[in-house]
Amino acid sequence: MSTFATDPFGEPASTGPGDPAAGGQPGPATPVPAVFAEPAGPAGPAEPAGPAETPVAPQAAPEPLGPTGRPVRVFPDPPVLESHGPARILAMCNQKGGVGKTTSTINLGAALAELGRRVLLVDFDPQGALSVGLGVNPLQLDRTVYNLLMDRNVGVEDVMLKTHVPDLDLIPSNIDLSAAEVQLVGEVAREQTLLRVLQPVLGDYDVVLIDCQPSLGLLTVNALTAAHGVVIPLECEFFALRGVALLIETIDKIQERLNPQLEVEGILATMYDARTLHGREVLARVVEAFGDRVFHTVISRTVRFPETTVAGEPITTYAPSSTGAKAYRELAKEVLAR
Ligand SMILES: Nc1ncnc2c1ncn2[C@@H]1O[C@H](COP(=O)(O)OP(=O)(O)OP(=O)(O)O)[C@@H](O)[C@H]1O
Ligand SMILES: [Mg+2]
Repeated sequence: MSTFATDPFGEPASTGPGDPAAGGQPGPATPVPAVFAEPAGPAGPAEPAGPAETPVAPQAAPEPLGPTGRPVRVFPDPPVLESHGPARILAMCNQKGGVGKTTSTINLGAALAELGRRVLLVDFDPQGALSVGLGVNPLQLDRTVYNLLMDRNVGVEDVMLKTHVPDLDLIPSNIDLSAAEVQLVGEVAREQTLLRVLQPVLGDYDVVLIDCQPSLGLLTVNALTAAHGVVIPLECEFFALRGVALLIETIDKIQERLNPQLEVEGILATMYDARTLHGREVLARVVEAFGDRVFHTVISRTVRFPETTVAGEPITTYAPSSTGAKAYRELAKEVLAR
């Protein structure tokens, strides 16, 4: 530091203590930043050009930074698949409510299907929001994921519905599922029930996304036991990180005791508002806490998402060129690139 003070400026003190007021902004001081830029000249005695050039040589323009504060990454289009399966199972999980689990399940699923992947969505929440979001009325269903779990005579094909997006299928749910939480307790290998019932179709799909309910109860444990990876959506607001430690602890326990292959696929920042300092600060905190596990793709807050729920379709078909649709397409590529 003292080097700066004495060294390159040449005559910093020459104006002396005498007349600081005289210039207001001391005239010759204005070019000082330029001196910072290349402190080469007067002080550097022996080798002014030599070693200085080698390391600094072709000063490329600084890489543009994305919203997560890391250099922007462009993810390639994934390879075209000749055949399908076996599925990679991802649980969309956060016991905090309203963070974008269901929205992300629908739209990531639809975006993956657009990229030629065969996708199965599992509504694993008795609220049935995933089903509603895909235009299904949960109250009119005879059979749901509940029957699949509890009745040995019911198979995936008996409950599965086609959505209007090609290659995007749905196992729907409704309030019946809330009983499963209690009824499963008495079952043998109760934590593996979902995995067991999905097993017969895993060869037909490339990706299975499980939309978890906002709790860490037995249903969520089933989802985590079936999954290869967990996607954790985090709403970019003040309490975003609250409860995440407990979730990670639960994931670790399940990995230890039930499902060694389980890993955190990524943390997905949702409902991000780049215009507010608060949004940017929260996202910075999330990146500080989780580093590279945070997806580069960030989902912005936009009213288009609530609209899609009413429309009963993914944003990729409801508003195909919206920023929200583009973001989930980016996320799909990022997930496939991981
Ligand atoms: N990026 C977004 N911008 C604006 N609104 C959003 C966004 N993502 C989701 N929403 C809205 O926020 C609400 C909660 O989202 P969503 O249902 O996906 O969360 P969730 O985590 O599944 O909730 P729950 O814990 O109740 O299952 C919904 O009304 C949804 O439309
Ligand atoms: Mg939900």
